[in-house]
Amino acid sequence: MPRKVDLPDYAWNEEGAKRYARESEKSDMQFRVFFDKLAAISAGDRILDVGAGPGPLTARIAERYATAEVTALEISPIMAQLGKEYIEGKGLSGRVRYITGDAADNTVLDSLGRYDLICSNFSLHEWDNPRELILRLRRLLSSNGTMLLHDLRRVPWLSWIPLRMPMLQAVRASYTVEEIRELLYGIPQSQVNVSKDPPFLLTVTIRALED
Ligand SMILES: C[S@@+](CC[C@H](N)C(=O)[O-])C[C@H]1O[C@@H](n2cnc3c(N)ncnc32)[C@H](O)[C@@H]1O
Repeated sequence: MPRKVDLPDYAWNEEGAKRYARESEKSDMQFRVFFDKLAAISAGDRILDVGAGPGPLTARIAERYATAEVTALEISPIMAQLGKEYIEGKGLSGRVRYITGDAADNTVLDSLGRYDLICSNFSLHEWDNPRELILRLRRLLSSNGTMLLHDLRRVPWLSWIPLRMPMLQAVRASYTVEEIRELLYGIPQSQVNVSKDPPFLLTVTIRALED
């Protein structure tokens, strides 16, 4: 299911990463649906945040689950550095560790261990081979663990808008619910649910079934 969309490289330059950090710091709104979805899941003690970005979301996760150990995995060294600084500033570095690395990289994943909750917000549409990456993440779930992937959802009317703003490009690069269902068909020992969230969001829940 290849998507031919040029995504903005905001995460790979300091100006773009800092702008993203400022926007996510001041806006609770963009995380509201993510946290609503999370509320329905028992998180456990070990949480992995994939595509963690510059820190505000990861810090909120750590604050919400006040005893959990949180690992933030982020591919962009610039984002990861901002994230580390943000977490330190919030006094959370005792429980939150930032790792710079690609979630598609088995060597990185093998160094992490198992998680009760693996979550990701607004990152899935940036993954090159999402099925493979999700299968690899699935192996990190503890028995009865849950993966929650919240992302943008492509909508047909976007193709009628001729603008190439970064936000619109990100939505264009995202998946429909049907595409995600097809993509995740037959994931072993898992209960998969994909929901459509307004206005152009979707949520994937993957629950590990016991062996
Ligand atoms: C739109 S940002 C979302 C950041 C944060 N989750 C939030 O909601 O504010 C997407 C992030 O995913 C990261 N990312 C994309 N592909 C990744 C991968 N394969 N492994 C780890 N991080 C990735 C990007 O560098 C970027 O920081």
